[in-house]
Formats: sequence, structure tokens, C-alpha cells
Amino acid sequence: MSEPEYRPGLADVPVAESSISFIDGQRARLEYRGIAVEALARESTFEETSWLLLKGELPTQKELAIFDSQLKEHRKLKYKLCDMIKCMPESGHPMAALQASVAGLGMFYPARDVSNSKTNWESVVRLIAKLPTLVATFHRLRHGDDAIAPREDLSHAANFYWMLFGREPSTAVARVLDACFVLHAEHQMNASTFSARVTGSTLADPYSVVAAAVGTLSGPLHGGANEEVLDMLDEIGEPSKATGWLEHAVATKKKIMGMGHRVYKVKDPRATVLQELAEHVFAESGRPVRYDLTLQLEAAAVKILGPKGIYPNVDFFSGIVYEALGIPRDLFTPIFAVARVSGWLSHWLEQLKNNRIFRPEQIFTGTNDCPYTPIDQRP
Ligand code: COA
Repeated sequence: MSEPEYRPGLADVPVAESSISFIDGQRARLEYRGIAVEALARESTFEETSWLLLKGELPTQKELAIFDSQLKEHRKLKYKLCDMIKCMPESGHPMAALQASVAGLGMFYPARDVSNSKTNWESVVRLIAKLPTLVATFHRLRHGDDAIAPREDLSHAANFYWMLFGREPSTAVARVLDACFVLHAEHQMNASTFSARVTGSTLADPYSVVAAAVGTLSGPLHGGANEEVLDMLDEIGEPSKATGWLEHAVATKKKIMGMGHRVYKVKDPRATVLQELAEHVFAESGRPVRYDLTLQLEAAAVKILGPKGIYPNVDFFSGIVYEALGIPRDLFTPIFAVARVSGWLSHWLEQLKNNRIFRPEQIFTGTNDCPYTPIDQRP
């Protein structure tokens, strides 16, 4: 038998059959269950999009109303879970807090029998509903503020903003945050989704599945890039320095955060929609100099990196939108998780329908048949 070909990063290797989302990286096309993400970001809501991802088709009015009220009902946290979050170090990263509290959630709602579709759905609703509360609760408590109870009269996005800041967002801000959730809800076989499917394939419970995915999302090559884009903009400082900074960064082989994608070889369609959203927010809050810097950097990158198929990805503009909404930098990646949980859980349910445990091969590069040398005889 011939040796299987090793593809670092599993590039171009299919690891599952999936009907959840589709990407054409040359045409900047992203579809959730066949519907263009631009249409969903403009016309749908996170709640409706989540149903679409999970169930495979748009909900009827009745289905959406029931799903929406189930999500609202499950937003609250048990007081012991709040106590657990209270004990977490306030200097810890909110992604670590989220990963730990999602794992903790699984101890309060045991769901080990993943062959039961009724309890699986209850876990799905609970996880989507509670992730925003977990993020907001840690954020409030780490600053010595009281946690703010969720409200049932607000949408998923508006309620999240309410729990973070204790004030209702304007209609425009709630709409922008909701569209950000829609844009981040699903993205085919990315690292955290693959991680969710690998964990799910062992028949682990859904809380372990989401906790594993949160850990994977936290890295700077994945969800963590949105924070680092703003660190990079801080380092560059002014729009006039963008081209020089980029030339130097490329010459010294530095990775430009928010640029490049395994699948997209043109500008990420989510980045285009996020840019439009950023402009809406700036129409309300005023256009920051940072946005001019972002545009300068993009223009320089198109010239220098464009020929290699490296263009802005979703993270290039998401940070600047969140910053304009007053959201602290280290919450950008947790917000990504709050949205992506619908995609992770859709993949988990799909994986369970036709499951086989993931157990890939390796190319062994070590040595064999080595003798054991007792410690006193080693050099
Ligand atoms: N800045 C500069 N060069 C980049 C780059 C970037 N952001 N992204 C890719 N490249 C270059 C690599 O240096 C490499 O060049 P080489 O062939 O001369 O060595 C080539 O493009 C291929 O890059 P590689 O890292 O192998 O691509 P990948 O498909 O494995 O990685 C990413 C994809 C997303 C991890 C990568 O583009 C990246 O690190 N981007 C920055 C982090 C980021 O924004 N992540 C969020 C993704 S949504």
C-alpha cells in the first residue's frame, strides 16, 4: 500500500460531508444553507439564522416565535454558576473564563446521552441562550460591578449589550451587533468547528464540544486575530505610516493580522459587509482616525499582498466596529464565540447523524527499537 500523502494543516483534505455552509473562495461567496450571508446579515436576525443553520431551512413564524421564547427563557444563570465565575481571576482572559464556564455549565445540566434528540435540542437552546450571559457576567464581575440580569423583552443582540453596559442599545447599534452575530455564526470547516466535530465524534456531551471549540477559537491565527488587528493599528499609529509599516512588516516576514485566509483568495465577503456596518456606526458616532488608517493599510496591502491572494478577512473590520460600539478589546473573541456557537452546534448535530470517531494517521518520524539505558549509565 502506498504511503498516504501528508498535507500540513489538512489543507484541501475533506474531513466531513456537510450541507451547512458553502464557500467559493475565488468568488467571495459564503452561503448558509444556500442563502448568501450578505442577504442574511441585511435581512435576517441571529435567532432566525441560528434556526436556519441548525434545522436546514428558514423557520415559519410560529417556529421562530417558539425558538425565540425558548432562548429568552434560558438566558439566566444558576446562582452557583455566578459564584463559580466570581471565583475566577479578574486578570484572566475572558476566553479562558468562557471555556471554563461552558465546561462548568455541563456539570449543572448533565447531557451525556447524545442519542436523545430531545435533550440534545434542549442543550442547543441552553448553550446559545447562555453564552452571552456567561461573557457579560465575567466582564461585569471582573470590574467589581454586579452582574446584570438578562431581559426577556430584548433581542439576543440587544440583551447582550444590555447585560454588558446596563443600558439599552439604540436601534442602529442593536442592528449592527445582530448583523455581526449573523456574519460570525458559521464558516464551514474552520479550526474551531473541526475541533467541535472531533470532540463530538467521541460522543462527548455538547458542553464539552463547545468548551473545546472555544479553546480552539482563542488562538491568534483564528478568532484571536480580531484583538490583534487593533494592537497592530496601535503600533502603526497614523494613516501616513501605513504603507511604510506594511512594507517593513512584509520584508521581515511578519504576519499581518486580519489578512489572508486558507479559503478566500479575494476579499472575504464578511469583511465587505462589516465595512459597510462600520460606516453605519461611524455615521452615528463620528468617523475615527483609526478607520482612515485601516483604509490606508488595506490599500497598501492590496498592492503588496494582493498578488499572493492575501486580502482582508472578517477580522480586519470586526474589531473596529466593536471598538466603535464601546466594547473592550478582550471581549472581541468571546463575541465571536457567542455567534459561532450556532455553527458549532449545527456541525455537532450533523456529525452525530452519521458519526465515526475521528482518528487520523500520522507519518512516524522517530526511531524504533531503542534500548532502555538505566539512569546511572546515561551520559
Ligand atoms: N500576512 C503576511 N503574509 C501572509 C499572511 C498574512 N496575514 N497570510 C498568509 N501569508 C503568506 C505566508 O507568509 C505564506 O507565504 P510564503 O508562501 O511566502 O511562505 C503564504 O501567504 C501562505 O500562508 P499560510 O500561513 O501558509 O496560509 P494558511 O492558509 O496556512 O493560513 C491564515 C491562513 C488565516 C492562518 C493566515 O493567512 C494568517 O495567519 N493570517 C493572519 C491571522 C488572521 O487574520 N487570522 C484570521 C483568519 S479569519
